[in-house]
Amino acid sequence: MDTAATTATTGIDEQEVGRFAQKIFSIYTDGFVGLMLDLAHRTGLLETLAAGPGTSQELAERAGLVERYVRECLGALVTAGIVDYAPAGRRYMLPPERAVCLSGPGSLNLAPFARAGTLLAGHLDAVARAFREGGGVPYDAFRPEFTTVMDGLSRGLLDGQLIDGILPLTGELPTRLAEGVRVADIGCGTGHAINLMAREFPRSTFVGYDIASDAIEAARAETTAWGLRNAAFEVLDVTRLPVEPPFAAVFAFDAIHDQVDPAGVLARVRAALGPGGVFVMMDVKAASALEDNVGNPLAPMLYGVSTLHCMTVSLAQGGAGLGTVWGEQLALRMLADAGFGDVVVHDVPDDPLDVLYVAHLG
Ligand SMILES: C[S@@+](CC[C@H](N)C(=O)[O-])C[C@H]1O[C@@H](n2cnc3c(N)ncnc32)[C@H](O)[C@@H]1O
Repeated sequence: MDTAATTATTGIDEQEVGRFAQKIFSIYTDGFVGLMLDLAHRTGLLETLAAGPGTSQELAERAGLVERYVRECLGALVTAGIVDYAPAGRRYMLPPERAVCLSGPGSLNLAPFARAGTLLAGHLDAVARAFREGGGVPYDAFRPEFTTVMDGLSRGLLDGQLIDGILPLTGELPTRLAEGVRVADIGCGTGHAINLMAREFPRSTFVGYDIASDAIEAARAETTAWGLRNAAFEVLDVTRLPVEPPFAAVFAFDAIHDQVDPAGVLARVRAALGPGGVFVMMDVKAASALEDNVGNPLAPMLYGVSTLHCMTVSLAQGGAGLGTVWGEQLALRMLADAGFGDVVVHDVPDDPLDVLYVAHLG
């Protein structure tokens, strides 16, 4: 059938078909660029490029890698507009503005995010099964790699912003921490937030809770390596968070929306806080209604992460399955239901993916 006939009989806009097909190819292309960024991050190639330009041979030698692989990966990164290439000397370079976003220890390094996509993609078959049969893929199925990947997602932000950017948004809390109070972090993962605060505020005592024993082991190893005496960690389901003696502050960094029983956990946090206590909840920046997320360029990624991880780990245990995109409106409603009526929402410095809910008790 010729194209003109197709158009005449179906009323399909041929040019629109072409544009849309290009969009789909471009989405698939971006997916592969993400994989190449993951490889370049894992192998140290991005850090090598950030340290200075070179030919593929020079870069491979500096990174201790095989030149042929380096050259092919660089082909993807050059054509994707990430790495610059000068054909005359066959030299590759990562301009400093891009190096800031793809290397180094700080909160602006986005390279570790590439690994999250690769990890979650490895579970497509299991999630597809849940589409057909219900249930979900449990947290344990994602470990031990999840523990490392999650640490990679949060460590740079915590190093760069926890003490100087995030805590100042919590009102009087830094002053109270300096004086000496008791603090918990629920769903603490590898415990970096607790260790950073324990080092900064030696008069306060800190405890981190997580259900994952491998994450708690990593947290304790850092406490020991840093010689901290005021940080402790416990493997615990935080629906059983101790309520006595009360805490002055409880933190939750991206650890509420994937809970099996998020309402139960919020109520337990409320019960565990003493008078004047504060709950600091960093969670995903989104709206609760789909229509309000249209136009948010990060929203497709958030719904994807939700389907492949945050929602499914909760549904796997018959949980609420709030998902990554539970959104600010539902979060505020659930906080209010748990007894947190006075909540201020802040943007998180250097982090377009999250907001900070600061809930003070009277
Ligand atoms: C998305 S990760 C965030 C980890 C850490 N807060 C960070 O920002 O790197 C959520 C964490 O919550 C933990 N978690 C989930 N449900 C839990 C529960 N009921 N009790 C304790 N920890 C839980 C998971 O094991 C995981 O480490």
